Amino acid sequence: MDNSPHIGLIGLGTMGAALALNIAENGYPIAVYNRTPAVTDAFTSGAGDLAAKLTPAKTLEEFVAAITPPRSIILMVPAGPVVDDQIAALRPLLGDGDLIIDAGNANYTDTERRSRESENDAFDFMGIGVSGGEEGARHGPSIMVGGDAAQWERMGAILEAISAKYQDEPCAALMGPGGAGHFVKMVHNGIEYADMEMIAETYALMRDGMGFDAAQVAQTFEGWDAGTLASYLVEISGKVARATDPISGAPMLDVILDKAGQKGTGRWTVIEAQQLAVAIPVIEAAVTARNLSARLAERKKGAEVFGGMPQPLPDGVLDTETLERALIAGKILCYAQGFEMLARASAEFGWNLPMPVIAKIWRNGCIIRSEMLNDMASALATNPGESLIFAEPFTSLLRENEAALRKTVIAATGAGIAVPALAAGLSWFDSMRSPRGAANMIQAQRDFFGNHGFERLDGQDAPHGPWGAHG
Ligand code: 6PG
Repeated sequence: MDNSPHIGLIGLGTMGAALALNIAENGYPIAVYNRTPAVTDAFTSGAGDLAAKLTPAKTLEEFVAAITPPRSIILMVPAGPVVDDQIAALRPLLGDGDLIIDAGNANYTDTERRSRESENDAFDFMGIGVSGGEEGARHGPSIMVGGDAAQWERMGAILEAISAKYQDEPCAALMGPGGAGHFVKMVHNGIEYADMEMIAETYALMRDGMGFDAAQVAQTFEGWDAGTLASYLVEISGKVARATDPISGAPMLDVILDKAGQKGTGRWTVIEAQQLAVAIPVIEAAVTARNLSARLAERKKGAEVFGGMPQPLPDGVLDTETLERALIAGKILCYAQGFEMLARASAEFGWNLPMPVIAKIWRNGCIIRSEMLNDMASALATNPGESLIFAEPFTSLLRENEAALRKTVIAATGAGIAVPALAAGLSWFDSMRSPRGAANMIQAQRDFFGNHGFERLDGQDAPHGPWGAHG
């Protein structure tokens, strides 16, 4: 059997190493390279039986020479300038028919630029979004592919082979040209931030409002994971709440600082949403909550100056069923916003994103995988172009769970427990069902100070108010 690789992978960090082993395990010989040779050595010596499929290289020249043309070279290096440096280093070594595939969390605008720039090169370039953390990379991630039909033709089979499967369907698909794959991955991450934040908000209500200890929190999440909310993030939240700190013997949750990190993909989602003039307030609230979480010193000062401790909720104001229902509603509202953003980008950039397929390839492998995505895939196929809130079963689910979301936000607000993402979802929902909002006031103000004009309800052609220049 031909054991000479056609594929290579650069960057043997956690994700790169796991992806290389996944590729090897699926029967594809693969050359591997890391700029620190000791990392490559440690990787190959820990690869067990799969080492036979690996061709480690100590230099970039040796790496490229080890791959039989036409070469497909996957980059798993940190997003940003490192990717450009790596492409520049490969440029003199690659020839006609070679292909560089950026599988990191690139900003889609960089992927668009790199795709354009590669038109002047002998080699080709594409960007793919890969989700699922280390476990996913090793045993099956969700893969959002950016590229043209020829690139998909070339890479589709292997990407499908290494991807997660949902009832035998691969969680890998072509999203659209250029940066489309990385754009979809970016929105995935924005939703990931929002899912995580809303779960954390229900945790805050259980801990501070209902006096739950970690074990009770764990039990609640475990129960939710067996119902409508079944998902990876709810599942791991239960596991997290169940875990004990080996150092102190306390619940893990009780020893972890409440200061969230971020690498930027959530922020990019919010920036792009504003560029597209699309409303994703749940995701925005989640990103803002992470920013605020980092301001620990000020939050402590705020607690001293204004009195910080939230009030416990009076008995019976909230129960776990109400919280579960609130999270169901919040989740639907968040995904409606995320998919709307994808639809808007698709129209704006002429990508023709396959909306139901996006939901399908998120059903397994990725961080936001959940049972609900299966129904979302059907809803997006049946009602293309329509918000998820207007498609069944989500319309019914919102009708059934809206009151619980409202009750939860009211209770949290009354007790001084911040629930920014759930509250943002509720406000968006209320805006979306207001046949007459308050923007008539905005229009009047704009006309008052700037003569900007307005449309009238009665259709009359009289676009200015009687306030003249000074009102
Ligand atoms: C995934 C994740 C992953 C992301 C981490 C950390 O889909 O596998 O989105 O790509 O890098 O979740 O992201 P933050 O550091 O921004 O939280």
